Amino acid sequence: MPSTHPEFPNLRIFDHPLVQDKLTRARDVDTTPAEFRRLLNEIAGLMTYEASRDFPLADCQVQTPIETMNGQVLSQPITLVPILRAGLGMTDGILRMLPEARVGHLGCYRDESTFETVDYYMKMPPDVSDGPVLIVDPMLATGGSADYAIDRLKQLGCDNIRFICLVSAPDGVGRLLKSHPDVIVYTASLDDRLTDRKYIAPGLGDAGDRIFGTI
Ligand code: PRP
Ligand code: URA
Repeated sequence: MPSTHPEFPNLRIFDHPLVQDKLTRARDVDTTPAEFRRLLNEIAGLMTYEASRDFPLADCQVQTPIETMNGQVLSQPITLVPILRAGLGMTDGILRMLPEARVGHLGCYRDESTFETVDYYMKMPPDVSDGPVLIVDPMLATGGSADYAIDRLKQLGCDNIRFICLVSAPDGVGRLLKSHPDVIVYTASLDDRLTDRKYIAPGLGDAGDRIFGTI
């Protein structure tokens, strides 16, 4: 089970040794983009296990080779929403755990001088609000991008939203607690602070650049 935080009731921190080992390797400045992508997807898969714990189930009957029994299957459509670009770096790892999930894309980036969110793309399944939504982005810094993404999905009627990130900062978690207290934030680490340029410290640098080799 991920641990909770006394200051942030909306936060779940994955202090599991497998997650912490992979996160530490990902943080290393010498980790190559290929290795970085692999680690991000592996961590995302592990986090999905807990982030999906209360997904609704429906009873069903299944015929085993021996006899008929009562089983359970996921009962609602699940939608992953990676925030472009960096969210794509965790999507395959989650899809490995939830192969039936649909993927809605939301493109936005943080203007590097104003730190305001600029959006450029959105494509969701028409019935996105019919089931749980997992918003995915490795970094939760000021929280501007996450706040914006959650707003957009709520405007579409979604009321069962979770946010999965690799590294979070107190500013971003606190902002989401104020604006969207119903959204649980799953993270591998709550780091110390933001730098003057609003990077997470110690963090791992620019996640999108490290995933796609655009540094
Ligand atoms: C990064 C990151 C988040 C955002 C976090 O994306 O992937 O989306 O910054 O910062 P915030 O919490 O202050 O909004 P970026 O804007 O660099 O775009 P990219 O994914 O295209 O690199
Ligand atoms: N976006 C990133 O990619 N890294 C940070 O530290 C903050 C925002």
